[in-house]
Amino acid sequence: MSARSARLDRLLANLGYGSRREIQILARTGRIRLDGEVLRDVEKRVVADADLAARLTVDGETLDPLPGLVLMMNKPVGVTCSHKEAGPLVHRLLPERWRRRDPAISTVGRLDKDTSGLLLLTDDGALLHRIISPRSSPPKTYRATLDRPLRGDEAAVFASGTLMLEGEDKPLLPAHMEILDEGAALLTLSEGRYHQARRMFAAVGNHVTALHRLSIGDLTLPDDLAPGAFAVLDAEAIAQIFCRKNN
Ligand code: URA
Repeated sequence: MSARSARLDRLLANLGYGSRREIQILARTGRIRLDGEVLRDVEKRVVADADLAARLTVDGETLDPLPGLVLMMNKPVGVTCSHKEAGPLVHRLLPERWRRRDPAISTVGRLDKDTSGLLLLTDDGALLHRIISPRSSPPKTYRATLDRPLRGDEAAVFASGTLMLEGEDKPLLPAHMEILDEGAALLTLSEGRYHQARRMFAAVGNHVTALHRLSIGDLTLPDDLAPGAFAVLDAEAIAQIFCRKNN
């Protein structure tokens, strides 16, 4: 996102630091500093870029990430991506102030409450639409743990491009499956229908007991990102989302 000039009080309010009035109070009480110097004029226009983020502190801490934020989270089982499902929202795992940002941070697509793994969140609406658009639709790879041993024909059925899920009138696009052991497989999907991975295994007489998303495009969840933890993505990591693996 290109850096835009904004009034500092508006920028801080949009980052969730408080109302414009509260930010004036922060400034008057010397809690905002630019290059180490107390900054009292929060009506000043600033360019919201990495330079500002490095120079400005509030209560001695560097500024929260500026708009254009993209996060990867290791979503734990039991939290939801939407108010439509019962249970705590993934947003609860973000710092409290980040939940007051405008533009708000949204999940990029959804994972079921019972699915864990790589979840992207962003406040960049254009980027969000680019990732979920069927035109780019980066491949997503899941590790599925199964209730029953694999039969052996699943990879061919999923790759066929003819598999029809119950209640639907359009076959699934070909998907790639790789056997890990008799009760686990990697499944790579290039579309995102409702409960797609679970319904695909149900269609071949199995049942998914655990589902974990490992990657989107070439962006892979790092092993050291604990369940519930998140990381801010840089431009290089964001570009990896749109790289297409060869399945
Ligand atoms: N497929 C599913 O069944 N659930 C998910 O959360 C993602 C893909």
